[in-house]
Amino acid sequence: MPHRAYSPLDRVVVNLDQALRTVFGRPQITERPDPAADLPEPDLPDAERRHIARLMRINHTGEVCAQALYQGQALTARLPEVRAKMECSAQEENDHLAWCEERIAALGDRKSLLNPLWYASSFAIGAAAGLAGDKWSLGFVVEAERQVESHLDHHLEQIPSHDAKDRAVLEQMKADEIHHAEVARTAGGAELPAPIRWGMSLASKVMTKAVYWV
Ligand SMILES: [Fe+2]
Ligand SMILES: [Fe+2]
Repeated sequence: MPHRAYSPLDRVVVNLDQALRTVFGRPQITERPDPAADLPEPDLPDAERRHIARLMRINHTGEVCAQALYQGQALTARLPEVRAKMECSAQEENDHLAWCEERIAALGDRKSLLNPLWYASSFAIGAAAGLAGDKWSLGFVVEAERQVESHLDHHLEQIPSHDAKDRAVLEQMKADEIHHAEVARTAGGAELPAPIRWGMSLASKVMTKAVYWV
């Protein structure tokens, strides 16, 4: 999308539209197929199904946050190339959103009620990172994607091997997040100071704990 031609007001409207789609509607996805589409629905005992549904709810909220971070950064990024790169990764995060949403519904659960709150705070953090400058903003993406990657590993450890659907979604997401981190790193992302990395990790722990229940 040629964002450069947009006025500030246009951008506000586009961002609001993105926010509403992400939290309440159907996000715009790419042409990629859902990795779980052709796999058999797993037969899971009730307690395990509920647990996995909640893990997928956490992953869905993580993608809401990722989408908001990318949109916030795109709003304040200085260089058009940086903005364009973010847009591409953000679109893939929409695929993740849609795939997680499918799995939550199939497992009989619901999305987090706190998503509007997570979207708003992640958008503000993304915009602040963008204002700090492109190298910090890209560094922020590298760190966020790395943390998501290890968090996905932690979830994969908890999902049984016969649950091919949920595993396929998380494995494709993991591959994409590794790629997003690499794109941001090669575009000039700086290594963030340790206190910021710890703060991000703490914020994601708070999010995962809250979203498991709400
Ligand atoms: Fe993602
Ligand atoms: Fe990502």
